[in-house]
Amino acid sequence: MFDEVAKHYDRTNGVLSMGNSLIWRIATVKAVAPKAGEKILDLAAGTGTSSVALAKTGADVTAADFSAGMIAVGRRKHPGFTFVEADAMALPFADDEFDAVTISFGLRNVEDPKKALSEMFRVLKPGGRLVVCEFSKPPRALFRAGYNAYMRYIMPAVVDATSSNPEAYTYLADSIREWPDQVTLSQWIRGAGFTRVAYRNLTVGVVALHRGHKPARLSAKRAARKRVVTETIERDSVDIPPTEPEATKS
Ligand SMILES: C[S@@+](CC[C@H](N)C(=O)[O-])C[C@H]1O[C@@H](n2cnc3c(N)ncnc32)[C@H](O)[C@@H]1O
Repeated sequence: MFDEVAKHYDRTNGVLSMGNSLIWRIATVKAVAPKAGEKILDLAAGTGTSSVALAKTGADVTAADFSAGMIAVGRRKHPGFTFVEADAMALPFADDEFDAVTISFGLRNVEDPKKALSEMFRVLKPGGRLVVCEFSKPPRALFRAGYNAYMRYIMPAVVDATSSNPEAYTYLADSIREWPDQVTLSQWIRGAGFTRVAYRNLTVGVVALHRGHKPARLSAKRAARKRVVTETIERDSVDIPPTEPEATKS
């Protein structure tokens, strides 16, 4: 499906989001905060629009996606950029390889998002950061109703006029409707092992930006200190026998 929409993907995206996709990308790049020399994985990168923005600070960015069609369009648009054909659920990267991993509007499309989150955790260095930008649920009922009406009545008409594959966008609307809300996705991220998990809504919650961190490894000095404390507690601890319930006086 993504191979088929690849050619007009970026244009349709811009139109459907009414220009918001640019704002969401800028917010995502800011949240990743890439630094020169850092290794960053942009997963489900599509044609690499976000990947190129991430690389502007001098970070070493890899754009990975499993659609050969999206990658082909990406390579044409950004010659010389590193694109890798990869499945988010079985990443062809070593453990602890990246300083940051990000995925924009891709996690929702992965067959097993929890498996993909655990793969992202695996390839991140200890202390590394995760940023997930994904469609979500506007928490306010009024905005939610407006958004649902847009998806049902306006989006199909826009898609007919701009996309080469309108059926693909029916899938898009369905996948957004079925995707969990901000709190549930935060729980999935925590479940994959990430700490300091938080999110913030963009465009009244149409999109949410989620963050998490792979816990840092303790330095050798701190690990040794922790070992000494644990051993001391174990050595000094006294086994207290379980207390017998007091006999009740009659
Ligand atoms: C909606 S596009 C988003 C592309 C890009 N991140 C962006 O923000 O424009 C979703 C992308 O997820 C990719 N994708 C879906 N499932 C995937 C998987 N299991 N592994 C890697 N990429 C996947 C698709 O090929 C597609 O390029």
